[in-house]
Amino acid sequence: MTAAEKKAEQSTRAELSAEGVRVEFTTRAGRVARALDGANLLVRGGEVVALVGESGSGKTTLARTLVGLAEPVAGEIRWQGSPMKRSGRGLKALRRHVQLVLQDPAGALNPRQTVYESVAEGLRVHHLVAKSGRTETELVAEALASAGLRPPETLFLRYPHELSGGQRQRVLIAGALAVQPQLLIADEPVSSLDASIRGEILALLLKLREELGLGVLVVTHDLGLAWNIADRIAVMYLGRVVEAGPTEEVLTSPQHPYTQALLSVVPEMTGLEPIVLRGEIPDPTRIPSGCRFHPRCPALASGAAEAVADACRGRSLEILPADPEGHRSACHLVAARERVVARRDGSSLTSSRPATSSTGAGSAAEAGGGTS
Ligand SMILES: Nc1ncnc2c1ncn2[C@@H]1O[C@H](COP(=O)(O)OP(=O)(O)OP(=O)(O)O)[C@@H](O)[C@H]1O
Ligand code: SF4
Ligand SMILES: [Mg+2]
Repeated sequence: MTAAEKKAEQSTRAELSAEGVRVEFTTRAGRVARALDGANLLVRGGEVVALVGESGSGKTTLARTLVGLAEPVAGEIRWQGSPMKRSGRGLKALRRHVQLVLQDPAGALNPRQTVYESVAEGLRVHHLVAKSGRTETELVAEALASAGLRPPETLFLRYPHELSGGQRQRVLIAGALAVQPQLLIADEPVSSLDASIRGEILALLLKLREELGLGVLVVTHDLGLAWNIADRIAVMYLGRVVEAGPTEEVLTSPQHPYTQALLSVVPEMTGLEPIVLRGEIPDPTRIPSGCRFHPRCPALASGAAEAVADACRGRSLEILPADPEGHRSACHLVAARERVVARRDGSSLTSSRPATSSTGAGSAAEAGGGTS
């Protein structure tokens, strides 16, 4: 099979989705923290999806849930269209194809295991050496080389403390690649690395997508990083995706006030007025009513969303579907503006006179007319 054929096959076969997933933790004080609360996400082979959001928005919990390390109390994880099987056997089969690279490379590697042992572990668990017709040493060396660690043999006997942060991250990626997964979930793969190494690791992820047709879910709080490598972006806030779509659309025309604020402080986004969000992301034991972002929403605070303020504070928003094509956001203001545009377009189609309304997406005052 050629590389192009392999890539095409990967993208049609590999599909991992979270559908309405709710994950809860009980805090020491006995309260229920809803870390995920209706999370929808889809990742397909051959594409890079970035899951972004502030610290505490639920990114790692979603990544862990996607590989069966956390169990939803509601909703479903589907792999290739079928519900995830939670038996030991089912999870092992899933992890053969979907590998998670954890957030902290220092903590994720066993300090008593050499690089060789770390990378060989997955090969042994999944009995891949016998099936491959090659030696374990060859497969470990190949995985290390794919992760950019060359010559691989020089690293075989090193321990994690003898490696740089970038090398540790690559060893983790090599361990994941050794089992030849179809999807890789990388949780903050470069957050602990220097700028030059960050670029190398990101280039590596793109190369693997290109050469192997690997699907990648990159979990990050860094929108600049997402801009550089992702085909699609899902923006998460307090356990739910609040905006999602093709990277360029989301980052050049962000709809949700949360995305707009996150984007406004990305250093690469020159010319945007910085919007500083008030306070911290709330504790998931106390999810605000209405729009969960409303206590911090700059549009509501500035009066721009005055016309939909009651809805912002009191009316729940629809949960965005895991739509792999469209650009959507969950916001009363955006919805009201869209209704204005739809009304205007509808009337301009039926009217014999040219439309006379304003050319923008509709002011908040206009928008409010459609919300009562
Ligand atoms: N085991 C746990 N017990 C209790 N609460 C938890 C647990 N794991 C996560 N949480 C809570 O769930 C929420 C989401 O956490 P999560 O680690 O998924 O966020 P994150 O987006 O990955 O943040 P970061 O960017 O800091 O890694 C947080 O409020 C966190 O405190
Ligand atoms: S629904 Fe209202 S509070 Fe929520 S993001 Fe939109 S404008 Fe802000
Ligand atoms: Mg995290």
